Amino acid sequence: MKVAVLGAGAMGTGIGQVAAQNSCQVVYYDSFPGAIDRSKSSIEKIFSRLVEKGRMSDDERASTLALMKWSKDISAIKGADIVIEAVIENLEVKKALYAEAEALIAEDSWLCTNTSSLSIAALSSELRHPQRFGGLHFFNPAPLMPLVEIVPGIQSNDDFADTMEALMASWGKVPVLAKDTPGFIVNKVARPFYSEAIKLYEEGVASVAEIDAAVKSIGFRMGPFELTDLIGHDVNYTVTETVWGQFFYDPRFRPSITQKRLKEAGLLGRKTGRGFYNYASGMNAAAEAQNEAEIDPMLGEKIVERILCLIINEALDAVWQGIASPENVDLAMTKGVNYPKGPIQWGREMGWDQVLETLNRCHKHYGDDRYRPCPLLRHLNSGNAELGEGQLTDNFMV
Ligand SMILES: NC(=O)c1ccc[n+]([C@@H]2O[C@H](COP(=O)([O-])OP(=O)(O)OC[C@H]3O[C@@H](n4cnc5c(N)ncnc54)[C@H](O)[C@@H]3O)[C@@H](O)[C@H]2O)c1
Repeated sequence: MKVAVLGAGAMGTGIGQVAAQNSCQVVYYDSFPGAIDRSKSSIEKIFSRLVEKGRMSDDERASTLALMKWSKDISAIKGADIVIEAVIENLEVKKALYAEAEALIAEDSWLCTNTSSLSIAALSSELRHPQRFGGLHFFNPAPLMPLVEIVPGIQSNDDFADTMEALMASWGKVPVLAKDTPGFIVNKVARPFYSEAIKLYEEGVASVAEIDAAVKSIGFRMGPFELTDLIGHDVNYTVTETVWGQFFYDPRFRPSITQKRLKEAGLLGRKTGRGFYNYASGMNAAAEAQNEAEIDPMLGEKIVERILCLIINEALDAVWQGIASPENVDLAMTKGVNYPKGPIQWGREMGWDQVLETLNRCHKHYGDDRYRPCPLLRHLNSGNAELGEGQLTDNFMV
């Protein structure tokens, strides 16, 4: 199988690596000077490390590298069975590239996008063959994170989902079907992990390091502040703002002024040496500050409970809106962003009554629709709904 990857940046390079390690012929296309050299040398470094660690033989390295090509000329993608686009997150740039790509590939080739937050419908609007197009959303770093969200668009062929699920499973990935809605599963459900933590910090409830330490105490590998510092406030803020706008400015997704200011000031996190933490003294700054943080355990529990309840509410809303099944929501959050437990499972264990009570309390206190409980949470709490295998066991008409 020949796979063409458009955009040899962080994601594209990783996606191509996964394909080549699964015996696909891979051609990368990138139009920016330097991007190709960076991509190639990062693959060479990764393979050398794998060889050093004994996870790849010398022969495998040579044969895998022989499958990979990089080109500044888009015509190199000719003959691709599937094209996976991973250029910058810009609707117009992506659409312009599809016009070029479609002119080069066969009518029955698949064209997929790795977009995190743009609508598949909008991206497909000017395609010649929109039925061969859909979302194939990998997580960063693509070779390590198992999840791939499969997102058929409104015009995708019926076999898009099955074909992509089978292909991703054959590449050792965990494919999860999601509806073409803002942020799909992960980037919708995860929003409160960042935004509610920032809100608590803005209110002076606790410091950045204290909140991170509290969140990590229940099994998260990184706290919201160190994670957004790692992702970059430019990237993380933009996803939040895009999802908020696409949900018609629903307050549940409202971005924070504090993070906007970091972005505006160019304090983007680790990559610029300062974000929520200051890395002037080294990249251990977050860990050191968290070690020194002393938070009252009761307060820590309350902080974690509030963040979790908002995530659970968003997870239930994804089920309620038919974006994904309860099992797939949990799979997505554990396999795409390393949550220690799926949010639906968390809600079951915590008890729907406690989740609802926390949201209602905040709703009343702030008078902010951001804390509005999802209808499914209310139905689960009153015993009027159950989360069965794969779907809701009941439907409601009020
Ligand atoms: N970084 C993440 O965590 C992440 C995770 C999942 C999905 N995504 C999505 O993946 C896509 C790529 O993100 P990234 O982080 O790899 O970005 P990146 O900036 O690392 O890479 C983008 C690459 O696209 C190239 N490019 C830009 N315009 C081009 C054009 N017109 N033609 C050819 N090449 C072009 C750039 O030279 C660059 O090498 C985006 O849509 C992003 O939303 C990112």
